[in-house]
Amino acid sequence: MTLSSPNKKQDTLIGRLVVEQGLATREEVQTCQARQAELAKEQNYRSIADLLVENGHITKRQVERVRAVAEEQKEQQIPGYTLLSRLGAGAMATVYKANQISLNRLVAIKVLPQKAGTNKEFVERFYKEGRAAAQLNHPNIVGAIDVGEAPNGRHFFVMEYIDGETVHDRLENGGRYTEQEAIHIITQVAKALAHAHKAGFIHRDVKPKNIMITREGVAKLADMGLAREASDAQAAQAEAGKAYGTPYYISPEQIRGELDVDQRADLYSLGATFYHMVTGRVPFEADTPSAVMHKHLREDLVPPDHLVPELSSGVGEIIEVAMAKKRKSRYNSAEEMLTDLERVAAGEPPLVAKQAYDLSTLSDLEKGGKDSPSTIQTKKGAIPLSAQNTIDIGAASLSQRLMDPIVLGLAAALLIAILVILILLLRG
Ligand SMILES: Nc1ncnc2c1ncn2[C@@H]1O[C@H](COP(=O)(O)OP(=O)(O)OP(=O)(O)O)[C@@H](O)[C@H]1O
Ligand SMILES: [Mg+2]
Repeated sequence: MTLSSPNKKQDTLIGRLVVEQGLATREEVQTCQARQAELAKEQNYRSIADLLVENGHITKRQVERVRAVAEEQKEQQIPGYTLLSRLGAGAMATVYKANQISLNRLVAIKVLPQKAGTNKEFVERFYKEGRAAAQLNHPNIVGAIDVGEAPNGRHFFVMEYIDGETVHDRLENGGRYTEQEAIHIITQVAKALAHAHKAGFIHRDVKPKNIMITREGVAKLADMGLAREASDAQAAQAEAGKAYGTPYYISPEQIRGELDVDQRADLYSLGATFYHMVTGRVPFEADTPSAVMHKHLREDLVPPDHLVPELSSGVGEIIEVAMAKKRKSRYNSAEEMLTDLERVAAGEPPLVAKQAYDLSTLSDLEKGGKDSPSTIQTKKGAIPLSAQNTIDIGAASLSQRLMDPIVLGLAAALLIAILVILILLLRG
């Protein structure tokens, strides 16, 4: 009797291969599996291969050959999927096109490098976020399907397969998008973000490479909910030497390594992506990733319509508000940005951006406001900007203006003057 340590994965693989190669039927394998389970209860572990031989379903020589194939496949294979081809590789992983055997459909599988599996905290986060992402269901988000560990110990992330190209593919050789094309794509991504943000997800890596366009022209945001091993700034640094990498779209607060990064970081990156799409240039260019990041923190943006004069001022205003260095000066939510995108698409001026703009030029009496998610910071203070009250900003600014130090000062002077006149009259 053979007594060896349980190896469930190996047994599953051998069982599958034996059926796939027509050496035994599915029923014969299932009978052996049932027998194996009975024996295991008596602490008697028998491998599926042994039981198949013992029951005369296959020969010892066949077992040896199947074991050799299994060894070979372990390096590459992912249970339940047949890898078909390599779709591409990014900074941290390789993506394959595959067939999901159970449903006979095409999927894309991102396989993480071996070293990712050694960080226990990362692996936990990878599974947690992957499962949560699988709950998201939106036409503009590449659907997450599954997470798991391959027999070779590599972790993988299964997602909807997109037959199309990334926005990066078009930008790569200096290409750019027309204003209308870009608005159409950015609007779809803003919808994806609005959905994800509501569900508590922050993408953290919105960029042209993560926006896929299907053959039907639908934009899909990829890598939503994909946990990252490195911090944002480290991941950005890892892009060193690449023509288009994370540092071109990363928000200042991610560069600073702030821990409370929120939805506004994604809006900054979406603004930077928008900038690149309409101008054909990244917002900040420099020789090293560090220098690019420094510019995100300190340098003023060259307004997009300075590079492409035919751009509407509305697009420029949306981009500049989305890419404000201080997140409290940005759109507070993807919905707010959508309001402006829809207006500009219809040939109207943006509303939220315009107000932020106009107000910022009104005065330099900035005293600062609360960095609250329900406000947008202008030079006049924090102004509420929920979806319902965006159209009341004008009224808000009026009431705020009444609170200006100058107005208050004048009122106080008037009051004192009246008091002095009253005293003089009474004396007289
Ligand atoms: N769901 C998908 N369907 C089809 N192709 C995909 C899918 N996801 C990714 N790809 C392809 O695989 C490539 C590599 O993707 P990956 O996410 O690993 O890296 P990236 O986003 O391009 O770059 P980085 O690693 O710098 O973030 C993509 O550029 C894209 O061409
Ligand atoms: Mg990606």
